[in-house]
Amino acid sequence: MIEGIVPVLENAALSLIRQQELDEDIFPEIVDFLRVFADECHHGLEESHFFPAMGEAGIDTESGLVRDLKEEHKAMRRLVRKIAELWEDFSYACAARTAEDIHAAVQVFVRVLPAHIRKEDDTCFPMADEALSAEQQARLAAQYQEIQSRELCSGVIVHYGDVLTRLQARLRGGS
Ligand SMILES: [Fe+2]
Ligand SMILES: [Fe+2]
Repeated sequence: MIEGIVPVLENAALSLIRQQELDEDIFPEIVDFLRVFADECHHGLEESHFFPAMGEAGIDTESGLVRDLKEEHKAMRRLVRKIAELWEDFSYACAARTAEDIHAAVQVFVRVLPAHIRKEDDTCFPMADEALSAEQQARLAAQYQEIQSRELCSGVIVHYGDVLTRLQARLRGGS
């Protein structure tokens, strides 16, 4: 679901530099999706539960791969903040420069996010799968389930799934 936002974001930024008018709520909706669903509900849980569990299993989380992943989370947070701030300053009256800046920030973000996901899927998760005992994995899964059903509200995945589907339809960002 998180990767699904990438073509939506790219298309929105392209529309800006092509001076095609975008509905005002598009960027705020994308930013909300990235902040709440991608960052808080996903990267946040990796930082608060998954990486510490890797540390407990003896994996060095202060250097190498996990350090890089944590740095990428921070870089993505900074980029989303930048995109949000630039959008707040954006007006069609003096659009070109801000549109270029938004597009440049988006270009960096859409390179970092999929590469980050690949790094986790291909390297980090297999490494954790090897290092964490079955008991540690079961404990982690239970913690995730509890947090997702309680703290993050059980409807969050459904809600952001709907948001993504609507954005994809409006920006023809693929399915
Ligand atoms: Fe991550
Ligand atoms: Fe992740």
